Amino acid sequence: MKNITVIGVGYVGLVTGACFADLGNRVVAIDINEMRIENLKRGIMPIYEPGLKEIVERNVKAERLSFTTDYLEALRDAEFVFICVGTPEGVDGEADLKYVRMAAESIAKVMDHEMIIVNKSTVPVGTGDWVANIIREHQPRPIPFAVVSCPEFLREGSAVRDFFNPDRTVLGSMDREAANKVAQLHLPLRAPIVITDLRTAEMIKYASNAFLATRISFINEIANICEALGADVKEVVQGMGYDKRIGHHFLEPGVGYGGSCFPKDVKALAYMAQVHGTNPELLHAVMGINQMQRKQIVIKLQDLLGDLSGKIIALLGLAFKENTDDIRVSPALEIAEMLHDLGAIVRGYDPAAMAHVARAYPFVQLAADPYDLAQGCDAVVVATPWNEFKALDMERIGAAMRQKVIVDGRNLYDPERLKALGFIYRGVGRGYNGALNSHNG
Ligand code: NAD
Ligand code: UGA
Repeated sequence: MKNITVIGVGYVGLVTGACFADLGNRVVAIDINEMRIENLKRGIMPIYEPGLKEIVERNVKAERLSFTTDYLEALRDAEFVFICVGTPEGVDGEADLKYVRMAAESIAKVMDHEMIIVNKSTVPVGTGDWVANIIREHQPRPIPFAVVSCPEFLREGSAVRDFFNPDRTVLGSMDREAANKVAQLHLPLRAPIVITDLRTAEMIKYASNAFLATRISFINEIANICEALGADVKEVVQGMGYDKRIGHHFLEPGVGYGGSCFPKDVKALAYMAQVHGTNPELLHAVMGINQMQRKQIVIKLQDLLGDLSGKIIALLGLAFKENTDDIRVSPALEIAEMLHDLGAIVRGYDPAAMAHVARAYPFVQLAADPYDLAQGCDAVVVATPWNEFKALDMERIGAAMRQKVIVDGRNLYDPERLKALGFIYRGVGRGYNGALNSHNG
């Protein structure tokens, strides 16, 4: 059993804290957001993440997990301090490190014994050294400490499963002994552990996210070519994927990647590259294709419905992906904004994200369920591929609509089946099975 402090109770911090507690450690989680901490003390989760509530409850009950807003209390017995605060997009795409700076200063001010600071936030290369300097500057007296980078690779929606089944653990430090101690914490997870230097570990995180984003933009580009040439991208992926060097995973074309990570991390990597004199051409193309992919949905709607002003467009799914309530950089909501700007009436439904949408996007008219959503609308856009949308009664959906038009931004449905039900269907990259676009006449 180790004493662990986790700073930040968002997607990464709360999952990390609760899961390390579940492995038998004693974890204190701290956040500056008092409401989040108060709610957690009352068993109310700040985020929707499958399986997390049960783990939090179990470990609070076993007195292995507690919550506070007080740094002194949080660090009193800490051996390991995990920084899990946000690193949002700043000016010109540079990562904004203000929360990391605040966390480092707060740690330093109350530090009264040796500890290992483990950074899990996604941070620009060189941030580990910068954090060490901040801590040295703000310590009341010199106390030894080590900084280890331990980038996080979990996905929202499957964060608990990803924590317990990681593909690898990456650790970077100039202090091998400290890195080995952090490695020990991760041994129960039985994943390969890569130990390297601080900067390399920080770079592994950006390179991984940029590569995954590249796969998505690649397949979106192929999908657009498929549409123009009359091929079906789903079958193209199937055929490509059997090549072991390619694989079938992470090649779903759609509305482009969203979320709180890929968009900001690709930008931050491009920014770092440019500032250091290199020309990240591929990263710029990845970002350009991604933005265009949202616009393609609007262009398809215009092809099918003409002027969108006054048209009622229903968005099926609002979160940036399925199984989450997170709407940060949600493609669905970027499409909603474009439609709204064109004078369309935008309706929406999502199984988990509607409370957030109601606060941040008041122009989106929220529906009670997918059938209510379809009522009187001119087109349904499938924007988020929730499982529960797969088995909808499409006859009932069609009967409720004013025009039976579906733009399936996630290729959730079988084009032939929907056409047989009388829908006009447009998927992504389904040139042969779906309707051919205007280039093909
Ligand atoms: P989040 O916004 O969900 O949570 C961050 C939390 O940190 C908030 O609760 C906030 O109040 C708190 N916080 C901010 N400053 C603080 C301070 N000084 N002291 C204490 N608490 C503070 O963020 P997230 O999605 O968990 O992401 C955290 C980091 O992990 C980011 O760098 C992100 O890029 C990275 N990451 C995220 C994911 C993901 O799936 N969300 C996956 C891998 C890596
Ligand atoms: C992503 C990475 O997958 C994680 O490994 C990483 O830890 C995390 O970013 C991070 O650094 O924060 P996440 O953003 O939660 O995780 O979700 P993903 O499942 O990767 O999806 C990202 C976006 O890409 C979503 O909008 C999703 O719909 C889209 N996507 C994903 C596609 O369009 N096609 C795909 O084949 C896969």
